[in-house]
Amino acid sequence: MTPEKLCELAIEAMSHAYVPYSGYKVGAALLCADGTVYQGCNIENAAYGPTNCAERTAFFKAVYDGYRDFTAIAVCGGKDGVITGPFPPCGVCRQVMREFCDDDFVIYMVDAGGKYESHTLSEILPHSFSAKKHMA
Ligand code: THU
Repeated sequence: MTPEKLCELAIEAMSHAYVPYSGYKVGAALLCADGTVYQGCNIENAAYGPTNCAERTAFFKAVYDGYRDFTAIAVCGGKDGVITGPFPPCGVCRQVMREFCDDDFVIYMVDAGGKYESHTLSEILPHSFSAKKHMA
């Protein structure tokens, strides 16, 4: 699985978004250690708070199916699905990544025109709290 292909799968996942309130579509493609890919989209709610981000949709689908080892995630988003810049996952999603992933887990922030930025989890969530580090 190449980063480019994972980014394409994130872009495809945006078309599944349920976003009647914001119109802001987000797509994610989560790469498991064995090469399996789980896609996710954001799913909004009239009460706003229960909205689930695309990254967490992908993680929760994978975890339900028994996956626990993850290599990378590609994420993209934009109003009406139009990408205008690299997409940075929200803080809640970064913490969910922390639950299952090591410092070297890679986040591809998908940009327009086939571009993307690449960061590790330790870069985007420094000084983080994790079960492995703090509850062992
Ligand atoms: N959203 C995501 O899906 N992922 C993020 O990391 C940040 C925000 C969604 C939630 C909401 O449906 C829309 O983007 C606007 O905030």
